[in-house]
Amino acid sequence: PVSAAPVPSPTGAAGRSPAPSGAPVAPELLRWIGEVAALTRPDRIHFVTGTDAEFAELTDALVAAGTFTRLTGKPNSFHVVSDPSDVARVEDRTFICSERERDAGPTNNWRDPAAMKAEMTELYRGCMRGRTLYVVPFCMGPLDAAKPRLGVEITDSAYVVTSMRVMTRIGTGALDLINTGLPWVKALHSVGAPVEPGTTDAVWPCNDTKYIVHFPEERAIWSFGSGYGGNALLGKKCYSLRIASAMARDEGWLAEHMLILKLTSPSDVVHYVAAAFPSACGKTNLAMLEPTIPGWRVETLGDDIAWMEFGADGRLYATNPEFGLFGVAPGTGWDTNPNAMRAIAAGNSVFTNVALTDDGDVWWEGMTPEPPAHLTDWQGREWTPSGLAADGSVLASAGQPAAHPNSRFCTPITQCPTLAAEYHEPRGVPISAILFGGRRKTTVPLVLQARDWQHGVFLGATIASETTAAATGAVGVVRRDPMAMLPFIGYDAGDYLQHWLDLARAPGRRMPAVFSVNWFRRDADGGFLWPGFGENARVLKWVVERLEGTAPAVRTPIGDVPVPGGLDLDGVEVTPEQLTRALAVDGQEWKRELPLIQEWLDSLGTTVPAALRDELDGLRERLG
Ligand code: GDP
Ligand code: PGA
Ligand code: MN
Ligand code: MN
Repeated sequence: PVSAAPVPSPTGAAGRSPAPSGAPVAPELLRWIGEVAALTRPDRIHFVTGTDAEFAELTDALVAAGTFTRLTGKPNSFHVVSDPSDVARVEDRTFICSERERDAGPTNNWRDPAAMKAEMTELYRGCMRGRTLYVVPFCMGPLDAAKPRLGVEITDSAYVVTSMRVMTRIGTGALDLINTGLPWVKALHSVGAPVEPGTTDAVWPCNDTKYIVHFPEERAIWSFGSGYGGNALLGKKCYSLRIASAMARDEGWLAEHMLILKLTSPSDVVHYVAAAFPSACGKTNLAMLEPTIPGWRVETLGDDIAWMEFGADGRLYATNPEFGLFGVAPGTGWDTNPNAMRAIAAGNSVFTNVALTDDGDVWWEGMTPEPPAHLTDWQGREWTPSGLAADGSVLASAGQPAAHPNSRFCTPITQCPTLAAEYHEPRGVPISAILFGGRRKTTVPLVLQARDWQHGVFLGATIASETTAAATGAVGVVRRDPMAMLPFIGYDAGDYLQHWLDLARAPGRRMPAVFSVNWFRRDADGGFLWPGFGENARVLKWVVERLEGTAPAVRTPIGDVPVPGGLDLDGVEVTPEQLTRALAVDGQEWKRELPLIQEWLDSLGTTVPAALRDELDGLRERLG
């Protein structure tokens, strides 16, 4: 239901043609823009073209508005701080509004689609008053894909437009494809904060009421009230994971929360590896890893999302639908992730909720071993390492991190020096191995291999991880996070797991080997047992040796682990004791997991695949 009020004419802000190539704009797109404009009442409409000049115009305007600070330390780069309440994904405000509640399943919030639309329509009514309505045509994945995956985001946030430009292929190229009549996803976003006449806009407009809503049957997204990346850059989590997972179920492929990397051995054998870790559990770092073992090379294809489809040879081919990196800033430094640091140094980046140095650059915890002597923290407050001001008084920021734990860099992936040439290949790369991982202080060993595909799906389906600052809510709580997709499965979780099992059943399928990894096991003092980062190459090497049948393994009740001395440890700084504990499979700890896994499978209801219950029975038996 929209009002019958006159609709602003959908031409560019400065009289630009909406379709710079000259093709007529798809009637359905014009109709939708008109409908949204009539409801939300923007002052003007801007068709986003995606040019450098347009990016310059938008960022200049954001600087003038006080939202962006132009960095002097990096070219064409900006610092922005959000409202302190709008710093992460809001899982409790995220909904899958399928026609039937059963199709959203027990792991998603659900509301009847018509009821949700009625409620949100009232929220959207007049919500763009005083603002520009930006029309952002976009394409997830290369424009020259056989089936380009298109969308249009309507947003009233220039921050979103500039971030979408980094993260996806936006503008004229995508619009031209849409105008040829190809299908596209409608993605509506508003920060939900009209600018009333006579008032000035907030630096970070948002609304206390937030909704991140998906209509999977209609392939549509409605987002309201937040400007944060995961809630507002609708090509990313909303389209490429939640909506795409529903598309993938219908069409026989996978949309997954996975990095993709290319691994080349000293003898020039190439393997492509995908890995699913929950948010803030190491995907971006592993994707850009600089191996510490001589002769091994890692190149980057993706750091967050993988779309995987079977090739004619029965192998699973992965592409990265994104165009940028939206990386966790804290912990990213020259010693942990030098390739991310190089990508950032090239500029063209937006930094959200990091600290600002006195000389106009950014800083966050873990960037350098020692913090600068003086900073402006992410909340705009004076910050010093000691927590004391020059006059000896205690600062309000004392004892708090200078950057928000979920602060982010948003950087073009093409600036990553390790980007693999295959990134640009629309058919993707054949995946040899899938790693499932998470943050577990205890129980889960550094690495183990699943016995077969079904066992691998069981490992992925039952993996648990400690919650992080990437989503609002408590941090450090262990929860089951199947395939690192708990917040992103766009349909019923049992059906999703069945889909994973079914994929292997078609004739001629050559499924990847499956592994579980845990970089985050701790010793009694709370320190990490494994040094991680570049040293994780040693685990990747073992994975390759398993693929090639050259590394023996010990069969344990939970899977196959390296034999003593099986990991290449030449030059690594771990004591034999630490290594033993990092790799240990403790039967008692695993027996304590059994009822938790049982409870998790039970919580999924009647659609949980029987094969996974069989796997649990098998595990229980093997543990004795
Ligand atoms: P993503 O959100 O899954 O992409 O995770 P990131 O790669 O951005 O990493 C999230 C956080 O985990 C950062 O603070 C990293 O420094 C940290 N991290 C990543 N890999 C490792 C590792 O191997 N060991 C340890 N101890 N921390 C890691
Ligand atoms: P991440 O991406 O997985 O790199 O943290 C953002 C998110 O999942 O919210
Ligand atoms: Mn993610
Ligand atoms: Mn990441």
